[in-house]
Amino acid sequence: MFLVTIPDLVPVSGLDTDPEAVARFDAWAGVLEAAARHDQGEDHDAWSAAELRELEGSASKRRVQVLALDAGEPVGAAGVIASLRDNPEVALLYVSVLPGARRRGTGDALAAWAVDAARGLGRTVLHAETQWGPDSDEDPHEPWMRRHSFAPAQTVLRSDLAVDGTMLPEPAVATGYRLETHVDEMPEADLTDRALLARRMSTDVPLGELELGEEAWDEDRVRGEDERTRAMGRRVVSSFARDLGSGRLVGYTSIQVPGHAPALAFRLNTDEIVLAGPDHPLRAAGDPDTPALYLAVRHGCEARLNRSTYAQLAQIALDAGGGWVVSSQGAEFALVPQ
Ligand SMILES: CC(C)(COP(=O)(O)OP(=O)(O)OC[C@H]1O[C@@H](n2cnc3c(N)ncnc32)[C@H](O)[C@@H]1OP(=O)(O)O)[C@@H](O)C(=O)NCCC(=O)NCCS
Repeated sequence: MFLVTIPDLVPVSGLDTDPEAVARFDAWAGVLEAAARHDQGEDHDAWSAAELRELEGSASKRRVQVLALDAGEPVGAAGVIASLRDNPEVALLYVSVLPGARRRGTGDALAAWAVDAARGLGRTVLHAETQWGPDSDEDPHEPWMRRHSFAPAQTVLRSDLAVDGTMLPEPAVATGYRLETHVDEMPEADLTDRALLARRMSTDVPLGELELGEEAWDEDRVRGEDERTRAMGRRVVSSFARDLGSGRLVGYTSIQVPGHAPALAFRLNTDEIVLAGPDHPLRAAGDPDTPALYLAVRHGCEARLNRSTYAQLAQIALDAGGGWVVSSQGAEFALVPQ
């Protein structure tokens, strides 16, 4: 006699507003986050449930997802993402099992579902990603990937840059070019060039063994993705290099800042960056009508914020709607003397 317990696989969608469906989706996102936190630590790259809901609204990609339940309790999550604009044979699949529920066959059951789902979307090439930390040269999930006939195809390195206490370098710009930086929204007139850069970037990056065609980016897609990012509560800082001869954009880089974990960065007049937080608190002094704000730098030294920085903080507090308080790295600071 042999025995196996097959988990229940329940479809989930972030677009379904029925309360039970909302709870299922949150449980599904919770599994992805808990597994990522276990495997990658606090600096994990899992999206929040709110962010995943926004992503599902994208017209560029089709997403299907299931939650695995064992005796009614969430144990695993999986999904398939298929681009609707390009690469019609490719799908990205992901499978995640709660650390305490691994090695019981749930991963295999979810992988079988994902392969079927991808086939149902007409896809014949599957991609999947694994992550592992800097302490090991070996990917602990590779044996499981190989078991499902996946072969390693591309390695992406993630590097962390600690900005606290760093000096801001003066950007060097070659003659004939200008750097332009925008926060959240970029000028409409530049969307065509931005779309062209995104198309080129999709195949100019080292692809390893992956066979991917150029992604189909146009102005609408750039606009739509930017809107979605803002709706997720993320701030986007983009910098462009403009060729002054042709007037065209020739390069770009962008950084996203998740809204649920804000950190306020201050640039001192020495060009040093200081992140407000438990180690660098903000202090409001003076009288409530004309408060003076101080940022603890180090060894009891404080930097006084100028009036325009104070005005920016006041705007951030106003947008958050929680009174005259700002939060940074998990700590809250009053903008008026207590
Ligand atoms: C990879 C993952 C999904 C496997 O889930 P799981 O439920 O533990 O997998 P299963 O129980 O179905 O494993 C089936 C078999 O795969 C093999 N296997 C699974 N994990 C393994 C590991 N870490 N090392 C070696 N073999 C492994 C084993 O042969 C196992 O059978 P066994 O337990 O009888 O020896 C899970 O570890 C996980 O969530 N990892 C993080 C996310 C990830 O990397 N996902 C894969 C890419 S999308």
